[in-house]
Amino acid sequence: MRLVFLGAPGVGKGTQAEMVSAQFGIPKISTGDLLRAGVAQQTALGLEAKQFMDRGDLVPDKVVIGLVEEKVGTPECGQGFILDGFPRTVPQADTLSGLLAGKGLSLDRVMHFVIPREEVINRLSGRRSCSKCPAVFHVEFVPPKQEDICDECGGALIQRSDDRKETVESRLTVYEAQTSPLIDYYRDKSLLVELDGSGSVEGVQERLLALLPS
Ligand code: AP5
Repeated sequence: MRLVFLGAPGVGKGTQAEMVSAQFGIPKISTGDLLRAGVAQQTALGLEAKQFMDRGDLVPDKVVIGLVEEKVGTPECGQGFILDGFPRTVPQADTLSGLLAGKGLSLDRVMHFVIPREEVINRLSGRRSCSKCPAVFHVEFVPPKQEDICDECGGALIQRSDDRKETVESRLTVYEAQTSPLIDYYRDKSLLVELDGSGSVEGVQERLLALLPS
């Protein structure tokens, strides 16, 4: 099962990708997580990416494409993968399709998550991310059992620096300008499936599972 999760920042892609990954035993490849790991480890790539991420801009295509190429070629992805937050531009999407075609593969579905804009702001302003693992919580909607402590690994929960209000606005503007054209791009290829991402995490998961290939 080769899936892309597409949608605005904070729509719930990462939360659902973790669940689908666990349920089907296929890896979630999140370019955001890979870039944040590079920032945390202060790699050359991470330091280059940080300036773009802090402004809410997209990291240059060549950087993220390199990250995905490395992952998609590993045996871990032999049974499929979930791309969370990639592609985000038409050149990224073209590169992905060339990369897969070169291996005799193609995407099965592009799940387009949709929620109202005010809900995006609520979700991002209350998000808390684990400083040690990919787990994500929300102070109100998905609270950890113990305040500010990750349920999965006991790491400290932090607010992502790009979840500040000004950066969120610019991420949403960048999404509209550079990523939303992918909605028509994948609709034209008959790969796009619209998913109502509003309501509870469990409710979204139920709708999502019903739309995945069997
Ligand atoms: P990235 O990390 O990919 O951020 P994003 O796409 O903006 O998505 P988010 O992680 O903000 O949200 P999400 O949809 O995963 O929502 P989540 O599940 O966490 O990218 C960050 C940056 O890296 C980019 O701005 C860019 O600079 C760079 N980058 C990354 N990929 C790139 C690429 N391909 N090209 C160029 N640059 C790239 O949920 C949000 C909150 O809501 C959480 O608190 C969660 O607990 C809560 N929640 C989830 N579901 C529900 C629900 N159903 N009800 C209530 N609350 C919910």
